[in-house]
Amino acid sequence: MRAETSTPVNEIIATRRSPRSMSADAVISNEDLLAMLEAARWAASAFNGQPWRFFVGKRGDEVFAHILSSLGEFNQSWSKSASALILVASKTVKGDGVTPHADYQYDCGLSVAQLVIEAHDRGLVAHQMTGFDKSVAQSALSITEDLTPVVVVAIGTQDAPEKLAGPLLERETAKRERLPLSTIVIKGLPA
Ligand SMILES: Cc1cc2nc3c(=O)[nH]c(=O)nc-3n(C[C@H](O)[C@H](O)[C@H](O)COP(=O)(O)O)c2cc1C
Repeated sequence: MRAETSTPVNEIIATRRSPRSMSADAVISNEDLLAMLEAARWAASAFNGQPWRFFVGKRGDEVFAHILSSLGEFNQSWSKSASALILVASKTVKGDGVTPHADYQYDCGLSVAQLVIEAHDRGLVAHQMTGFDKSVAQSALSITEDLTPVVVVAIGTQDAPEKLAGPLLERETAKRERLPLSTIVIKGLPA
């Protein structure tokens, strides 16, 4: 469902959404996956610190199964049909071993935003999740202690909402809503 914007915005931003109905038959190409990771790689970050690290699984492989096993039951129920699951983990301390990457969550968010936009521009869909058990992910994927899991992104080919049932179907077809600009712009909203 297209976003109801108060003024026209970039087409991908207007049409991007986070669907849960993904085709269990769709296979993602290495070219698409590489381009998404490349888009993520070129995000801005504080002091160009680039704290993000990626664990990439394609449906059917071991990394996918390990990431899936860390997701909550609700998230597993629909994201098992994704073509790829990407876990983003972050360095929290710089190379000297003591200076914190103070803005690591912000940096990872920017990187994922670029990955998501690249996915949608390629006709794919992406759905971010923090509903996963970080310690399960840490051990299943042998994530080293210097990295902290941040988010999992499901990438896939959108399928019909009717492939889902119950609350999942309800959410899939619900109207997308956002707070009005007059609420989120505290000062200086252009007239
Ligand atoms: C940091 C973050 C965590 C999220 N975690 C989950 C999750 O665990 N499960 C889920 O189904 N959706 C999750 N979402 C998706 C949001 O619910 C979704 O982005 C939001 O409702 C807005 O919908 P839209 O992306 O279609 O505009 C998450 C999104 C973000 C950005």
